[in-house]
Amino acid sequence: MTLYSRITGTGSYLPPHRLTNADLAAELAAQGVETSDDWIVERTGIRARHFAAPDVCSSDLGLEAARRALQAAEVDAKDIDLIIVGTSTPDMVFPSTACILQNKLGANGCAAFDVQAVCSGFIYALSIADAMIKTGAAKKALVIGAEVFSRILDFKDRTTCVLFGDGAGAVVLEASDTPGILASDLHADGKHVGILCVPGHVSGGNVLGKPLLKMDGQAVFKLAVGLLDGAARTTLAKAGKTAADIDWLVPHQANIRIMQSTARKLKLSMDKVIVTVDQHGNTSAASIPLALDAAVRSGKVKPGELLLLEGVGGGFTWGAVLLQL
Ligand code: UT7
Repeated sequence: MTLYSRITGTGSYLPPHRLTNADLAAELAAQGVETSDDWIVERTGIRARHFAAPDVCSSDLGLEAARRALQAAEVDAKDIDLIIVGTSTPDMVFPSTACILQNKLGANGCAAFDVQAVCSGFIYALSIADAMIKTGAAKKALVIGAEVFSRILDFKDRTTCVLFGDGAGAVVLEASDTPGILASDLHADGKHVGILCVPGHVSGGNVLGKPLLKMDGQAVFKLAVGLLDGAARTTLAKAGKTAADIDWLVPHQANIRIMQSTARKLKLSMDKVIVTVDQHGNTSAASIPLALDAAVRSGKVKPGELLLLEGVGGGFTWGAVLLQL
């Protein structure tokens, strides 16, 4: 009997403080930085984002998302034997956000670690959890994407600070004899480190470099569209499927124009693309599970449907996961 891993519950959480483009533009104007709702909507599709309160960390957002996913899956936290958190905004240098979250959740004892693949973090984490379940190393996993990108934004740089938001999404992934995750595909190319990075580190009790997000938006945009298309096709081919078989594309939510280009290349109608970037902005590793949970809870995405999840981000990292819900 083939062993699969299957998503049995989804959950997500957004911090309550919501800023529309107009709210953010007013705050930026007070600091002499000029932007507008029109520019942000036209170039990105973003209309609002959520920012966490100063004392709220990625583990707090991830915890709420995890609780909701466990509730949806009807799984007790004590039965979880693996926790993987995709994040680039961890609570501390160490221990991992996964360990901090595990303790808050009361799932102490199980394996727990972070995956740092920036906006591809959830795709990486889901692929790893799938592989661990298929080898028998785990039976019930919590896979989480949680970010507080507001902490690493340079609010003097209008080309980046209007794009990102905070949030978390989670899934419970369980061993199953019915599919499940059908195929995945992961990649990285470190030669692109410089086009999307937070070039700071801790040394001797000080932060060296500039620990704020820096991005060459146009270079990222061009690279992203081609890489996502390649990962989508490879993943579909591994499972003997084509784009025409997909019920829903759940892409990383960075920019509506990237999603439109990806859909066009796959000859998919935008009606089959889950879009939440308008309400969440880019929440990095949290964006895919946030979008998935929104689509599941709204009743748009239904059990048994075929979903292609795809992500791209700093590193450069990229990948896709094909699954039957
Ligand atoms: O998670 C993965 C990582 N991120 C991404 O996927 C992002 C990929 N890149 C993008 O989404 C787009 O490149 C951006 C949204 C970042 C920028 O859009 P663009 O269409 O590539 O704009 P641009 O950089 O070519 O800038 C056009 C103009 C410039 O003015 P000039 O030189 O034409 O006078 C910018 O200075 O827009 C100006 N601009 C702004 N104006 C108002 C840049 N940012 C802003 C802003 N408000 N926030």
